[in-house]
Amino acid sequence: MKLLVTGGAGFIGSAVVRLAVERGYQVVNLDALTYAANLANVEPVADSPLYAFVQADIRDRGALDAAFAAHRPDIVLHLAAESHVDRSIDGPADFIDTNITGTFNMLEAARKYWQAAGRPDGFRFHHVSTDEVFGSLPADPAVQFTEATAYDPRSPYSASKAASDHLVRAWFETYGLPVVLSNCSNNYGPYHFPEKLIPVVILNALAGRPLPIYGDGSNIRDWLYVEDHADALLLVATKGAMGRSYNIGGENERTNLQLVRTICTILDRLRPRGSGAYADLITFVADRPGHDARYAINPSRIRDELGWRLSVTVEEGLERTVRWYLDNEAWWRPLLARQGVGQRLGKGAP
Ligand SMILES: NC(=O)c1ccc[n+]([C@@H]2O[C@H](COP(=O)([O-])OP(=O)(O)OC[C@H]3O[C@@H](n4cnc5c(N)ncnc54)[C@H](O)[C@@H]3O)[C@@H](O)[C@H]2O)c1
Repeated sequence: MKLLVTGGAGFIGSAVVRLAVERGYQVVNLDALTYAANLANVEPVADSPLYAFVQADIRDRGALDAAFAAHRPDIVLHLAAESHVDRSIDGPADFIDTNITGTFNMLEAARKYWQAAGRPDGFRFHHVSTDEVFGSLPADPAVQFTEATAYDPRSPYSASKAASDHLVRAWFETYGLPVVLSNCSNNYGPYHFPEKLIPVVILNALAGRPLPIYGDGSNIRDWLYVEDHADALLLVATKGAMGRSYNIGGENERTNLQLVRTICTILDRLRPRGSGAYADLITFVADRPGHDARYAINPSRIRDELGWRLSVTVEEGLERTVRWYLDNEAWWRPLLARQGVGQRLGKGAP
């Protein structure tokens, strides 16, 4: 079976590519190689006869038609996107172009290919989306996002992902394109680009720099280990019911402050500072405008219908992640020079 994975040089896409090749799928990785991409993420499988790479931009419809014609995939996993909320506040246009128009191009290229191929059984277009489309939850732990939660996006990023989810559903209802969708919580793990909270905290701590926490650190996120997510995505793409969406979450709700303190404790044990504890570096900074208070996923559908299970708690996943960054400086060091990395982005209007 051949999978076309878009965004396969990014954080989650590369975890999907590595796992899929390991499981014996043929994989075509289509990626424009933006600032967030890194081909080192797929280096472990790059020499496999099962793996192919196409450098193409999902804003370029012609390039997508050519990729479908050349590679004739059985299943599409569409992950390519602009993914950083803070960057979407400073420059929303790229998010509209890539996440909305790019997804429209992918749907049209997939539809043309699927129709011309005689609507083959088993073809699937899987759109990978976020729980941020559902907006913000109250503190009550009994209230969680389900697949029936109404859309209420608050940031340019989440609004662009909500729009692309709507397009995907419309292509199913209108044209019968066989689609599946998934909406997941915050991912973390190896190969995470160092502009997102967890790698920023690990790398700042190692450099003895302040550990920035937005607002008072009380915002709650539901942390999902990226390799568990990749496993869930392969399950949804191959076994998901047509037209259905699946929420994927880690059942690991933590406030940002709790999360950062846990990382500090792990680092205190694995790489003690000369003096003091890493938590001494915690610094509260101005909050993100429109910062959603709480995200929490109810993953019962994917658990009950597809049999998906988590493999790690957030403490186990964080320990693996910290160890990975300690062992892989050659991977992360060059990324610190990329545009915007290490700067405070997305503060909004002064
Ligand atoms: N990271 C998370 O916690 C999270 C949570 C929920 C959903 N998601 C979704 O999962 C997907 C992957 O997220 P990620 O964190 O791996 O993102 P990422 O930023 O690490 O990677 C995105 C990849 O897409 C590629 N890309 C961007 N624009 C492109 C374009 N125009 N054409 C082709 N390729 C392009 C980039 O080069 C990069 O390799 C996204 O759709 C995102 O919305 C992410």
